[in-house]
Amino acid sequence: MKPNNKTEKLYTDRATFYERLFVGFLGWGRELESFFRRSNYIHPNDKVLDAGCGTGIITRVLYRLAKEEGYKSINFHAFDLTRNMLEIFQGWIAGQSADNIELQQTDVLELEALPSYWKEYDLIVSSTMLEYLPNEKVKDALSNLKQLLGNEGTFLVIITKRNFITQWLAGKWWRTNLFDEQEIRDLFHAVGFNKIEFKKFSPQWSNFIMVIEAKK
Ligand SMILES: C[S@@+](CC[C@H](N)C(=O)[O-])C[C@H]1O[C@@H](n2cnc3c(N)ncnc32)[C@H](O)[C@@H]1O
Repeated sequence: MKPNNKTEKLYTDRATFYERLFVGFLGWGRELESFFRRSNYIHPNDKVLDAGCGTGIITRVLYRLAKEEGYKSINFHAFDLTRNMLEIFQGWIAGQSADNIELQQTDVLELEALPSYWKEYDLIVSSTMLEYLPNEKVKDALSNLKQLLGNEGTFLVIITKRNFITQWLAGKWWRTNLFDEQEIRDLFHAVGFNKIEFKKFSPQWSNFIMVIEAKK
C-alpha cells in the first residue's frame, strides 16, 4: 500500500471520531479559534487556502472571524486527500450556506490537479498534514504549496513537535512523523522561504505543536 493510501484509509475510518474527539472534545477547534483571534491573518478580499483541511476547522474558524469583521469578499479554498473528512466539512458548509468556500479532493503531492485559478493566495494554512507524508516528500509538498502563494502572501504551517509524549502517541495512535525546530528551519530554507517566524499556541498545546509563519 502507498503511504498516502494508508493515510487515506486511516482518516476514512476515523473521520467522525477525529471531528468529535479531537476537534470538539479535546479542544483543537477552541485552540485554533483562540490563536486566530489574537492574530491578524485575514483581511478584506483575501484568497485563503487550507491545505489538508480535513473536516475544515481552520477554514471554519477563519470564515467565522471574517464574518464577524464584515469581510464579505474573501475566497476560501480547501483540499484534502480523504473524502470522508471533506464530507463532514461539506455538511458544515451547507449548514452555513457559505458560498465562498470551495473544496477539492487532492493530494498535496499532486497539486496540478487543482483548478487553474487556485493560485496567488494571500494566506495558505497547512495544519497537521505534513506529518503524514514520507519524510523525503515533505520538501516537495512545501515547494508545491509555495508555488501557490502570492508574492506578499503568508504561509502558516502547524505541525507536531517531536517529544517523548508525541513519539509515544504518534507510534500508537496517529502514526505521524514528528519534527523539531531545526529540521523545520532547514526545510523552509531549502525551499526558498527567507522569512521564518515561530508563533505560539497556548502553553498546553505548545508542548506538542509548532506554528511556523513563513514569507517568500
Ligand atoms: C490531523 S488531520 C488535520 C486536519 C485539519 N487540517 C485540522 O487541523 O484539523 C490530517 C489531514 O491531512 C490529510 N492528508 C494527509 N496526507 C495528505 C496529502 N498527501 N494530501 C492532502 N491531504 C492529506 C488527511 O486526509 C487528514 O484529513
